[in-house]
Amino acid sequence: MSKKFFIIGNWKMNPETLEKAKDICVVEERAARFARRTSVVICPPYPYLSILAQKKKSIAFGVQDIFYEKEGAYTGSVSASIAKSAGAKFSIIGHSERRATGDTDDIVAKKFLAAFEGGLTPILCIGEKVRDDHGDYFAEVRTQLFSALRAANTYISKPFIIAYEPVWAVGKSYDTALTPEGMNEMVIFIRKSLSQFLEKNKVMKVPVLYGGSVNGENAQTMLTHGGVDGLLIGRQSLDPTGFSHIIKFANSL
Ligand code: PGA
Repeated sequence: MSKKFFIIGNWKMNPETLEKAKDICVVEERAARFARRTSVVICPPYPYLSILAQKKKSIAFGVQDIFYEKEGAYTGSVSASIAKSAGAKFSIIGHSERRATGDTDDIVAKKFLAAFEGGLTPILCIGEKVRDDHGDYFAEVRTQLFSALRAANTYISKPFIIAYEPVWAVGKSYDTALTPEGMNEMVIFIRKSLSQFLEKNKVMKVPVLYGGSVNGENAQTMLTHGGVDGLLIGRQSLDPTGFSHIIKFANSL
Protein backbone atom coordinates (compact mmCIF):
# COMPACT_ATOMS: atom_id res chain seq x y z
CA MET A 1 0.00 0.00 0.00
CA SER A 2 2.91 2.33 -0.64
CA LYS A 3 1.50 4.07 -3.70
CA LYS A 4 0.02 7.49 -3.43
CA PHE A 5 -3.47 6.95 -4.85
CA PHE A 6 -5.91 4.15 -5.57
CA ILE A 7 -8.03 4.57 -8.68
CA ILE A 8 -10.64 1.83 -8.56
CA GLY A 9 -13.18 1.09 -11.28
CA ASN A 10 -16.47 -0.55 -10.37
CA TRP A 11 -17.91 -1.80 -13.65
CA LYS A 12 -21.13 -3.04 -12.03
CA MET A 13 -23.21 -5.12 -14.51
CA ASN A 14 -21.30 -3.82 -17.55
CA PRO A 15 -20.24 -4.06 -20.34
CA GLU A 16 -22.59 -6.46 -22.07
CA THR A 17 -19.96 -8.63 -23.77
CA LEU A 18 -16.55 -10.08 -22.94
CA GLU A 19 -15.15 -8.57 -26.13
CA LYS A 20 -16.11 -5.08 -24.98
CA ALA A 21 -14.66 -5.78 -21.54
CA LYS A 22 -11.35 -6.77 -23.10
CA ASP A 23 -11.26 -3.62 -25.23
CA ILE A 24 -11.83 -1.36 -22.23
CA CYS A 25 -9.29 -3.25 -20.17
CA VAL A 26 -6.54 -2.98 -22.78
CA VAL A 27 -6.76 0.81 -22.83
CA GLU A 28 -6.95 1.15 -19.05
CA GLU A 29 -4.05 -1.23 -18.60
CA ARG A 30 -1.93 0.90 -20.90
CA ALA A 31 -2.64 4.00 -18.81
CA ALA A 32 -1.87 2.08 -15.63
CA ARG A 33 1.46 0.88 -16.99
CA PHE A 34 2.86 4.40 -16.84
CA ALA A 35 1.28 5.23 -13.50
CA ARG A 36 3.96 4.09 -11.14
CA ARG A 37 2.67 6.01 -8.16
CA THR A 38 -0.97 5.07 -8.58
CA SER A 39 -2.60 1.69 -7.95
CA VAL A 40 -5.26 0.86 -10.49
CA VAL A 41 -7.89 -1.73 -9.61
CA ILE A 42 -10.73 -2.90 -11.85
CA CYS A 43 -13.76 -4.73 -10.51
CA PRO A 44 -15.47 -6.40 -13.49
CA PRO A 45 -18.42 -8.82 -13.42
CA TYR A 46 -17.34 -12.27 -12.13
CA PRO A 47 -17.39 -14.14 -15.46
CA TYR A 48 -14.88 -11.71 -17.01
CA LEU A 49 -12.48 -11.74 -14.08
CA SER A 50 -10.13 -14.63 -14.77
CA ILE A 51 -9.92 -13.84 -18.47
CA LEU A 52 -9.11 -10.17 -17.92
CA ALA A 53 -6.75 -10.88 -15.06
CA GLN A 54 -4.42 -12.96 -17.26
CA LYS A 55 -1.20 -11.14 -18.09
CA LYS A 56 -2.41 -7.79 -16.87
CA LYS A 57 0.49 -6.85 -14.67
CA SER A 58 -0.17 -3.14 -14.19
CA ILE A 59 -3.74 -3.54 -13.00
CA ALA A 60 -5.02 -5.39 -9.98
CA PHE A 61 -8.49 -6.92 -10.03
CA GLY A 62 -11.29 -7.04 -7.57
CA VAL A 63 -14.82 -8.37 -7.34
CA GLN A 64 -17.88 -6.29 -6.58
CA ASP A 65 -19.16 -8.50 -3.77
CA ILE A 66 -18.57 -11.86 -2.10
CA PHE A 67 -20.73 -14.14 -0.02
CA TYR A 68 -19.60 -14.65 3.58
CA GLU A 69 -19.70 -18.44 3.67
CA LYS A 70 -16.55 -20.30 2.64
CA GLU A 71 -18.22 -22.99 0.51
CA GLY A 72 -21.42 -24.96 0.15
CA ALA A 73 -24.92 -25.01 -1.26
CA TYR A 74 -25.36 -21.28 -1.97
CA THR A 75 -26.59 -21.09 -5.53
CA GLY A 76 -25.34 -18.07 -7.40
CA SER A 77 -22.89 -16.98 -4.71
CA VAL A 78 -19.13 -16.50 -4.90
CA SER A 79 -16.80 -16.89 -1.93
CA ALA A 80 -13.62 -14.97 -1.22
CA SER A 81 -11.46 -17.96 -2.11
CA ILE A 82 -13.25 -18.53 -5.43
CA ALA A 83 -12.74 -14.87 -6.28
CA LYS A 84 -9.12 -15.05 -5.24
CA SER A 85 -8.38 -18.13 -7.29
CA ALA A 86 -9.95 -16.44 -10.32
CA GLY A 87 -7.52 -13.53 -10.00
CA ALA A 88 -9.05 -11.08 -7.53
CA LYS A 89 -6.95 -9.33 -4.92
CA PHE A 90 -9.69 -7.00 -3.71
CA SER A 91 -13.40 -7.15 -3.01
CA ILE A 92 -15.83 -4.30 -2.73
CA ILE A 93 -17.91 -4.93 0.38
CA GLY A 94 -21.15 -3.20 1.33
CA HIS A 95 -21.70 -1.22 -1.85
CA SER A 96 -24.89 0.82 -1.54
CA GLU A 97 -26.44 -1.10 -4.45
CA ARG A 98 -25.93 -4.35 -2.48
CA ARG A 99 -27.20 -2.75 0.71
CA ALA A 100 -30.30 -1.65 -1.26
CA THR A 101 -31.00 -5.27 -2.20
CA GLY A 102 -30.78 -6.58 1.35
CA ASP A 103 -27.23 -6.41 2.71
CA THR A 104 -27.71 -5.19 6.29
CA ASP A 105 -24.83 -3.91 8.43
CA ASP A 106 -24.59 -7.43 9.92
CA ILE A 107 -24.28 -9.08 6.54
CA VAL A 108 -21.76 -6.48 5.39
CA ALA A 109 -19.74 -7.09 8.56
CA LYS A 110 -19.68 -10.84 7.85
CA LYS A 111 -18.55 -10.22 4.29
CA PHE A 112 -15.87 -7.82 5.48
CA LEU A 113 -14.51 -10.53 7.77
CA ALA A 114 -14.82 -13.20 5.05
CA ALA A 115 -12.74 -11.10 2.67
CA PHE A 116 -9.86 -11.00 5.17
CA GLU A 117 -10.21 -14.70 5.93
CA GLY A 118 -10.16 -15.54 2.23
CA GLY A 119 -7.06 -13.46 1.54
CA LEU A 120 -8.70 -10.52 -0.23
CA THR A 121 -8.26 -6.86 0.60
CA PRO A 122 -11.72 -5.49 1.40
CA ILE A 123 -12.86 -2.15 0.03
CA LEU A 124 -15.51 -1.28 2.58
CA CYS A 125 -18.19 1.09 1.25
CA ILE A 126 -19.93 3.33 3.73
CA GLY A 127 -22.14 6.35 3.26
CA GLU A 128 -25.39 7.89 4.35
CA LYS A 129 -28.62 7.72 2.36
CA VAL A 130 -29.52 11.37 2.81
CA ARG A 131 -27.71 14.35 4.21
CA ASP A 132 -29.61 16.25 6.90
CA ASP A 133 -28.80 19.73 8.23
CA HIS A 134 -28.03 18.55 11.76
CA GLY A 135 -25.13 16.23 10.98
CA ASP A 136 -27.05 13.07 11.91
CA TYR A 137 -25.54 11.41 8.87
CA PHE A 138 -22.24 11.13 10.71
CA ALA A 139 -23.88 8.67 13.11
CA GLU A 140 -25.12 6.57 10.19
CA VAL A 141 -21.62 6.43 8.72
CA ARG A 142 -20.11 5.55 12.10
CA THR A 143 -22.62 2.74 12.67
CA GLN A 144 -21.72 1.16 9.32
CA LEU A 145 -18.03 1.51 9.99
CA PHE A 146 -18.08 0.23 13.57
CA SER A 147 -20.20 -2.78 12.74
CA ALA A 148 -17.66 -3.96 10.15
CA LEU A 149 -14.57 -3.12 12.22
CA ARG A 150 -15.94 -4.90 15.27
CA ALA A 151 -16.61 -8.07 13.29
CA ALA A 152 -13.10 -8.17 11.84
CA ASN A 153 -11.28 -6.78 14.87
CA THR A 154 -8.54 -9.39 14.76
CA TYR A 155 -7.80 -8.71 11.09
CA ILE A 156 -7.85 -4.95 10.78
CA SER A 157 -4.13 -4.54 11.26
CA LYS A 158 -3.99 -6.00 7.73
CA PRO A 159 -4.57 -3.77 4.71
CA PHE A 160 -8.10 -2.65 3.94
CA ILE A 161 -9.64 0.32 2.17
CA ILE A 162 -12.56 2.56 3.08
CA ALA A 163 -14.64 4.03 0.28
CA TYR A 164 -16.93 6.80 1.41
CA GLU A 165 -19.81 6.82 -1.04
CA PRO A 166 -22.78 8.94 0.01
CA VAL A 167 -25.79 7.16 -1.48
CA TRP A 168 -27.31 10.43 -2.69
CA ALA A 169 -24.27 10.98 -4.91
CA VAL A 170 -23.96 7.50 -6.45
CA GLY A 171 -25.08 7.16 -10.07
CA LYS A 172 -26.42 10.72 -10.22
CA SER A 173 -25.58 13.71 -12.38
CA TYR A 174 -21.91 14.62 -12.11
CA ASP A 175 -22.56 17.93 -10.38
CA THR A 176 -24.11 16.00 -7.47
CA ALA A 177 -20.70 14.74 -6.31
CA LEU A 178 -19.60 15.78 -2.85
CA THR A 179 -17.39 18.87 -2.62
CA PRO A 180 -13.72 18.51 -1.65
CA GLU A 181 -14.49 20.52 1.52
CA GLY A 182 -17.22 18.07 2.46
CA MET A 183 -14.87 15.18 1.84
CA ASN A 184 -12.12 16.70 3.98
CA GLU A 185 -14.54 16.85 6.86
CA MET A 186 -15.62 13.25 6.28
CA VAL A 187 -12.05 11.97 6.02
CA ILE A 188 -11.27 13.51 9.42
CA PHE A 189 -14.40 11.94 10.87
CA ILE A 190 -13.59 8.50 9.42
CA ARG A 191 -10.00 8.60 10.68
CA LYS A 192 -11.17 9.70 14.11
CA SER A 193 -13.62 6.79 14.14
CA LEU A 194 -10.90 4.38 13.01
CA SER A 195 -8.70 5.52 15.88
CA GLN A 196 -11.07 3.78 18.29
CA PHE A 197 -9.90 0.50 16.79
CA LEU A 198 -6.39 1.18 15.52
CA GLU A 199 -3.27 2.96 16.67
CA LYS A 200 -2.64 6.36 15.14
CA ASN A 201 0.15 5.29 12.79
CA LYS A 202 -2.07 2.48 11.46
CA VAL A 203 -5.07 4.79 11.08
CA MET A 204 -3.11 7.04 8.74
CA LYS A 205 -2.23 4.05 6.59
CA VAL A 206 -5.84 3.10 5.85
CA PRO A 207 -6.64 4.54 2.42
CA VAL A 208 -9.86 6.58 2.45
CA LEU A 209 -11.43 6.95 -0.99
CA TYR A 210 -14.31 8.98 -2.34
CA GLY A 211 -16.94 7.56 -4.68
CA GLY A 212 -20.17 8.91 -6.18
CA SER A 213 -20.60 10.53 -9.60
CA VAL A 214 -16.89 11.03 -10.19
CA ASN A 215 -15.93 12.28 -13.64
CA GLY A 216 -12.75 13.69 -15.16
CA GLU A 217 -13.40 17.16 -13.84
CA ASN A 218 -14.45 16.58 -10.25
CA ALA A 219 -11.83 13.82 -9.95
CA GLN A 220 -9.15 16.46 -10.31
CA THR A 221 -10.52 18.77 -7.62
CA MET A 222 -11.25 15.84 -5.30
CA LEU A 223 -7.76 14.36 -5.66
CA THR A 224 -6.13 17.75 -5.21
CA HIS A 225 -8.24 19.24 -2.42
CA GLY A 226 -10.39 16.47 -0.95
CA GLY A 227 -7.81 14.90 1.38
CA VAL A 228 -8.49 11.52 -0.25
CA ASP A 229 -6.25 8.56 -1.03
CA GLY A 230 -8.08 7.81 -4.23
CA LEU A 231 -11.41 7.32 -5.94
CA LEU A 232 -13.97 4.57 -6.50
CA ILE A 233 -15.46 5.20 -9.91
CA GLY A 234 -18.56 3.69 -11.49
CA ARG A 235 -19.71 4.95 -14.90
CA GLN A 236 -16.49 6.75 -15.81
CA SER A 237 -14.51 3.53 -15.37
CA LEU A 238 -16.35 2.14 -18.42
CA ASP A 239 -15.10 5.04 -20.51
CA PRO A 240 -11.50 3.97 -21.13
CA THR A 241 -10.36 7.41 -22.29
CA GLY A 242 -11.92 9.24 -19.35
CA PHE A 243 -10.70 6.68 -16.83
CA SER A 244 -7.19 6.77 -18.29
CA HIS A 245 -7.12 10.55 -17.89
CA ILE A 246 -8.03 10.21 -14.24
CA ILE A 247 -5.25 7.64 -13.76
CA LYS A 248 -2.74 9.95 -15.43
CA PHE A 249 -3.88 12.94 -13.43
CA ALA A 250 -3.63 11.07 -10.14
CA ASN A 251 -0.16 9.93 -11.08
CA SER A 252 0.94 13.47 -11.84
CA LEU A 253 0.23 14.73 -8.32
P1 PGA B 1 -20.82 6.31 -10.13
O1 PGA B 1 -20.76 4.99 -9.25
O2 PGA B 1 -19.41 6.80 -10.27
O3 PGA B 1 -21.42 5.89 -11.43
O4 PGA B 1 -21.68 7.28 -9.38
C1 PGA B 1 -19.91 4.91 -8.14
C2 PGA B 1 -20.08 3.61 -7.41
O5 PGA B 1 -21.21 3.11 -7.36
O6 PGA B 1 -19.12 3.01 -6.90
